[in-house]
Amino acid sequence: MPEIEKYGAASGSEAAGIPAPEGAGRRMYVKSFGCQMNVYDAQRMADILAREGFTRTDLPEDADLIVVNTCHIRERAAEKLFSELGKLRALKAMRAAQKKETKLVVAGCVAQAEGAEIYRRQKAVDAVVGPQSYHRLPQILQQANSGMFIADTEFPIESKFDFLPPPSPGQIRARGVSAVVTVQEGCDKFCTFCVVPYTRGAEASRPVESIIAEVEALAAAGVREVTLLGQNVNAYHGAAKGGPAVSLAGLCERISKVPGIARIRYTTSHPGDMDSNLIAAHRSLRSLMPYLHLPVQSGSDKILGAMNRRHKRKDYIELATNIRAARPDIALSSDFIVGFPGESEEDFEATMDLAAAVGFANAYSFKYSPRPGTPAASLPRQIPEAVKAERLLRLQALLYEQQRAFNAKMVGRTVEVLVEKRGRHPGQIVGKSPYLQPVQMEGRPERIGQIVRAEIISSGAHSLFARLLPGEASNEAFP
Ligand code: SAH
Ligand code: SF4
Ligand code: F3S
Repeated sequence: MPEIEKYGAASGSEAAGIPAPEGAGRRMYVKSFGCQMNVYDAQRMADILAREGFTRTDLPEDADLIVVNTCHIRERAAEKLFSELGKLRALKAMRAAQKKETKLVVAGCVAQAEGAEIYRRQKAVDAVVGPQSYHRLPQILQQANSGMFIADTEFPIESKFDFLPPPSPGQIRARGVSAVVTVQEGCDKFCTFCVVPYTRGAEASRPVESIIAEVEALAAAGVREVTLLGQNVNAYHGAAKGGPAVSLAGLCERISKVPGIARIRYTTSHPGDMDSNLIAAHRSLRSLMPYLHLPVQSGSDKILGAMNRRHKRKDYIELATNIRAARPDIALSSDFIVGFPGESEEDFEATMDLAAAVGFANAYSFKYSPRPGTPAASLPRQIPEAVKAERLLRLQALLYEQQRAFNAKMVGRTVEVLVEKRGRHPGQIVGKSPYLQPVQMEGRPERIGQIVRAEIISSGAHSLFARLLPGEASNEAFP
């Protein structure tokens, strides 16, 4: 699942109107790994750096500043980072030979976990900044300019959201009609396999007004869909002026009133925090899309217990039933881990059985990999690699078939598609169905940003092909 994203600040013309401070003309290159929250963080870092006069480049060799935004979830994340940093060190040396200075910053979850150790192993790094401290990048860079190495990986008392500059309309437009917004960060669940509670810290929710202001700015610049992000987003409980804390259901309701916003999604949810209000919101809120990512990890109660997931197999199956009672067409998606320490063939069969019983429109499945510092890494009965690989193949075959069947069922139906961008071929446009399926069709680029009606004519494992129907859909409707 981790994807690689490159980010740059706005181009010169988009940044127009912002006074160019000292050092204008410098270029930045941001490379981001990991989850959507890292994508969001990379965008916000680009926003701050744009204020500092940096413009984007897609070529690291042209960059005066390189930011590597790291992810710690997969195996050997730190090792892969050091190999990447080795290459960047060579690039820095090459630029130095041309009398060009390059600053190298490591951000994100490996930065948080490894801190100053990164500098001890790779002296080419100028600064290390954690996911809660990147609003201080301008000061950090100033200090780095004086030749000092800086590691800023505290979990500060202040919230970075109070300090981040809003993106300019030009920056928002460049990112498209579907935007991500972090509403909650950190996690108190401590699943025994997971690094997130250590890298992102304790659970914290952003106040409602701050989120609404951001969503309003996005909508004003043409954004039609927002995906609310949190490591454990359905535990959201944000402060609101003059009232009690607001739940995720309440937040979605407020956002649904922002003019221009037609679609709301949220990710990632823990089954234990899926309360009845949120389930009811899937029935009553038209703009809340019928797609829910709800990781289960395993179908065996023994393994769920050892993972400290705090839910049983039966709880998950009941929850899926209740959600479908509220919104019958909802597409469920999930994460699975196979080969957790102590997982027997019988435990694995229970996972296969749960997947078959629930039925998923989409899923991500992984071989368990020990993360240093997490409790499961030192459990006995670690599973041999070959067994993990074989189980993963079996599970993925089942999940792939479910996804293919889910897509195939759409053929002949008319769905509403939010058109996001031009397709790969001239004359094509691409958007998303309510169920998060990419939909390709013939159409003019003026359709970008509209919700159109399209008849699905064929399907593949990962996307749908459609015929655009005339007119624009007024709003999302239940099928
Ligand atoms: N916040 C998300 C999880 C983020 S990690 C949530 O609570 O669901 C994304 C996925 O990576 C997890 O759901 C899990 O399936 C997988 N994962 C996390 N740690 C892992 C590990 N040590 N080995 C294998 N997969 C892991
Ligand atoms: Fe990690 Fe998610 Fe578990 Fe939190 S709920 S510890 S983020 S897997
Ligand atoms: Fe990776 Fe950190 Fe996200 S470890 S998955 S970037 S929260």
